[in-house]
Amino acid sequence: MISSNITRNNAGVVCFAGHSVAALAEEYGTPLYLMDEERLRSNCRMYLNAFATHFGPGSRVLYAAKACSFKEIFRIAAEEGMGLDTVSIGEAYTALAAGFPAERIYFHGDAKTDKDIRFALEHGLGCVVADNPDELALLNAEAKRLGIRQKVLLRITPGIDPHTYEAVNTGTVDVKFGVPIETGQAEAFVRAAMAMEHLDAAGLHCHVGSEVFDEDVFQRTCDVMVDFMARVHGSLGFTARELDLGGGYGVRYVDSDPAADIPARIGEVAAHLRALVDRAGLPMPYVLMEPGRSIVADAGMTVYTVSTVKRIPRCKNYVIVDGGMADNPRWCLYRARYTVLHGLRQDGETDVFDLAGRCCESGDVIQPAVTLPADVCRGDLVCVCTTGAYNYSMASNYNRLGRPPVVMLSGDGARLAVRRETPEDLIALDL
Ligand code: LLP
Repeated sequence: MISSNITRNNAGVVCFAGHSVAALAEEYGTPLYLMDEERLRSNCRMYLNAFATHFGPGSRVLYAAKACSFKEIFRIAAEEGMGLDTVSIGEAYTALAAGFPAERIYFHGDAKTDKDIRFALEHGLGCVVADNPDELALLNAEAKRLGIRQKVLLRITPGIDPHTYEAVNTGTVDVKFGVPIETGQAEAFVRAAMAMEHLDAAGLHCHVGSEVFDEDVFQRTCDVMVDFMARVHGSLGFTARELDLGGGYGVRYVDSDPAADIPARIGEVAAHLRALVDRAGLPMPYVLMEPGRSIVADAGMTVYTVSTVKRIPRCKNYVIVDGGMADNPRWCLYRARYTVLHGLRQDGETDVFDLAGRCCESGDVIQPAVTLPADVCRGDLVCVCTTGAYNYSMASNYNRLGRPPVVMLSGDGARLAVRRETPEDLIALDL
């Protein structure tokens, strides 16, 4: 199986975190998002332990809320001792509503509105990551109004190509995020932040991309960032107390994907960074990372019911299910790969099908060319694995479909974390 929390029982039914998907589908209906609480917690602990071992106190792991955000996930992340990376009032509000400590919430975003900035400061969020010089004056004015000194990090574009796919590459010089080093603008950005009386420019932030598998991406990022830290230390007397390296470690969606040994990678990053700052004569900064995908992806699974099987002779076969691009737009957007399982059996002859959804466009494919039992038919269950990241959080109401519920699975049983959206919910905002 693609992930160790997926098994089959004696009857051949897929079990996720030890729970039969047939029983869960019966109780909660489909489409259904499942989340394995133990896996979620153990992924948090994997990062927290690696950070404790390699960076020590003061360094911090921020869960990137964009990967999957609802109150229960934030409660769990808070309990585990994670910090949080948020990018909108919605994410921050949800976290605060779940009791997430404001001090551990970082507020990002490349296009913060005045309202965003006011919200972040009024709610005492621990740190704002300034993305551009425009934000500095606004942050300073808002902090002055509130009579506080707001901690900020400055988002720098290091000019690193993480060799991931284009839509999630954020580190090269031509992206919309952050202030680039190689044009000289980053140094001016630091100077401007230092001049702001009500801002405490605690350090630097960067993020080079998502689904990063190259083993040395973070080391190459550290090379550039420490070089820059040394430069502004010399020219401006600026010392970065914190260095946020962003998120990005990849996960295994299909068997051919490599398995990243994240704790080992973190150890290598720490050793590399320590050597760089020692050589530059700089103090070791507190290090932050912002993993999203690698915290939640393999804690998730989506279960669908087959609506129909369409066979077009000498052309192609479809398995069409009761969800689709509205609950998982990732193949449509990124040609993202997934492992797909028949929920009830795996024996016998197989055939190849495109797994398509119920949305009214031909491009509504969850995954092309998946192998399933040849006798798959209406009423069967299909499981799409590793959907914990960027599925629920990217779900839409396209075709006025209600978003599926999220059921949290643990040793104690199953519980609803987000209920299914009803037709009444869908018209709740309509006047
Ligand atoms: N920090 C920053 C500043 C980010 O922009 C991101 C992701 C992360 C952290 C978390 O990265 P992760 O560890 O999850 O790779 N919707 C796309 C992914 C977009 C990622 C955007 N930024 C997808 O479905 O693949």
